[in-house]
Amino acid sequence: MTSSQPTPSATPAEARRRPLVAMKQVSKVFSSGTVALSGMTLTVESGEFISLLGPSGCGKSTALRIMAGLGDVSSGTIDWPSSRINSRGLPEGDISFVFQEPTLMPWKNVFDNVHLPLKLRGVSKAAARAEIMAVLATVGLQDFAEAYPRELSGGMKMRVSIARALVTKPKLLLMDEPFAALDEITRQKLNDDVLRLWKETGITVIFVTHSVFESAYLSNRIVVMKARPGRVHADLPLVTSLERDAHYRTSEEYRQACETVSHSLIGAINAAKEDH
Ligand SMILES: Nc1ncnc2c1ncn2[C@@H]1O[C@H](COP(=O)(O)OP(=O)(O)OP(=O)(O)O)[C@@H](O)[C@H]1O
Ligand SMILES: [Mg+2]
Repeated sequence: MTSSQPTPSATPAEARRRPLVAMKQVSKVFSSGTVALSGMTLTVESGEFISLLGPSGCGKSTALRIMAGLGDVSSGTIDWPSSRINSRGLPEGDISFVFQEPTLMPWKNVFDNVHLPLKLRGVSKAAARAEIMAVLATVGLQDFAEAYPRELSGGMKMRVSIARALVTKPKLLLMDEPFAALDEITRQKLNDDVLRLWKETGITVIFVTHSVFESAYLSNRIVVMKARPGRVHADLPLVTSLERDAHYRTSEEYRQACETVSHSLIGAINAAKEDH
């Protein structure tokens, strides 16, 4: 994996104008021989909310894992033009990952689960207390700090997982189908929570989903991927002057956005079939 440093003379304003992350012609071939990605190019600007959509097995999780440094590229580059990077080529501490499963430690309470990433950085519970309580409040769980995962609903567990991801104040939040296992009402509530957090913190979000409706509700840009090997099929900006709320869900603009995304996804699936 290769990376580039920002020039030392870059002003904060210049750094802000640079992309947060740029994948160029990235390929990933697993040792099994599976070509998961080939020629994947994607530039992400700071502050974007991007959904990655595409047929099952097209390499969405692989792309996210590569960005998070959980896997290497086979060829191509991934650059972090506006971050300081460490020896592993990653902007240390600037990325958090939320998986489909909340992956909480069942023997630890909510407070301790959220403390974990800070503990790994050597921050004691006492020093982290204010930070942890603040992030629990942002996900509506300030009264559940002492509760254990078994005492929480699926939606609450996912909120803990999001709090744990946010407690280090990352620049980039990678979310891999975080709400796929939840009922529709809980999912819509969490969609609104994530949108609020995105607006409040200015964090950049890359959100993997299978749901056209969810992607069209959340994102300001939708990247549709083509299957086998995965690469970008369509890059759709989604601009609306409307607030993303219950009213938006029933608006003509939202319906049109869903239709556009849906057509693109069908196009991606058909294009992959024609390649074979
Ligand atoms: N560790 C691995 N070893 C070998 N092959 C893998 C590995 N991880 C993923 N693959 C393969 O790479 C391809 C892309 O997988 P990936 O999990 O990235 O797809 P995805 O788009 O996230 O799929 P889904 O929508 O089902 O989650 C698949 O063919 C998968 O079988
Ligand atoms: Mg996946």
